[in-house]
Amino acid sequence: MACDTMDTEHVIETFDLSSWASPVADSLSQKALTALESGKVLYFPKLDFPLDAHETRFLDPRWSDPKSKNISFSQTTGLLKGALGNPQDQAGLARMLSRYASFSTTLLRALFPQYGDNLKLARTSFRPAEVNRRALSPRKDDSRLHVDAFPASPTGGNRILRVFTNVHPNGKTRDWRLGEPFEQVAEHFLSGIRPFSPAWSSLMRTLGITRGYRSAYDHYMLHLHDTMKADEAYQKQARQIPFSFPAHSSWIVYTDLVSHAAMAGQFAFEQTCHLPDFAHAHPETTPLARLEALLHRKLTHGS
Ligand code: SIN
Ligand code: FE
Repeated sequence: MACDTMDTEHVIETFDLSSWASPVADSLSQKALTALESGKVLYFPKLDFPLDAHETRFLDPRWSDPKSKNISFSQTTGLLKGALGNPQDQAGLARMLSRYASFSTTLLRALFPQYGDNLKLARTSFRPAEVNRRALSPRKDDSRLHVDAFPASPTGGNRILRVFTNVHPNGKTRDWRLGEPFEQVAEHFLSGIRPFSPAWSSLMRTLGITRGYRSAYDHYMLHLHDTMKADEAYQKQARQIPFSFPAHSSWIVYTDLVSHAAMAGQFAFEQTCHLPDFAHAHPETTPLARLEALLHRKLTHGS
């Protein structure tokens, strides 16, 4: 997508669905898949996650443990993390997050039948705090444009697909910035990233600094993330577009592909899924394929 200016239609594809369990026609599913993999945000202005009457009390930042950023839940293990409250409160929070996990995966399965069982459910989060713009370090500051990559959790090329819903009860928008396409981000920063060291990656795994082996792919993704965030001039001057997601809307995005920053907002749900590299409809669009093309070498094999 080489374009000099960025318009909303370059980065956002809008869908009319108003139910998480809507049947999805083949043509719609194809359109959604192509838009998603090409690096657009799929935006559902009418798709809300209505809370049950007894859940509205959870719309309060006091439920979240100040030590963790978000309240998180694993649908696989049933474990809730980062929440305060007595066992009954915690069970209520877990049920609410579990409902979001079920709703969002129902939609993902209907929208992307090609992904089938390759789409793996990961963490569900509830974000009751105001978006934090006073992070301690630039690398932790999500109000700076970045692509998602996490120091302790290498993906080895598996994708990070996320579903978000803004559930603000008083109509506050969740304000993002969306940056230039991945290729341009990579072209801008790749030459300044130090070479990958397999020995250092092995050591980090042995010492438990990383959960698993940080591959060359993870190395470049993490350094893209960190150098983008640290570059003040880039943050201001890079091509970008602000977009405000209204309360009671949802969106789906590959956050490892789409440069994004969260500027303001409170009360959101988020579901993360992972997809292996081989399961893409358009394998040439993945960050792995794009980095390999720019670096002229494989990034996930060998150590
Ligand atoms: C992020 O992924 O950078 C944060 C998104 C959000 O909480 O809105
Ligand atoms: Fe992010």
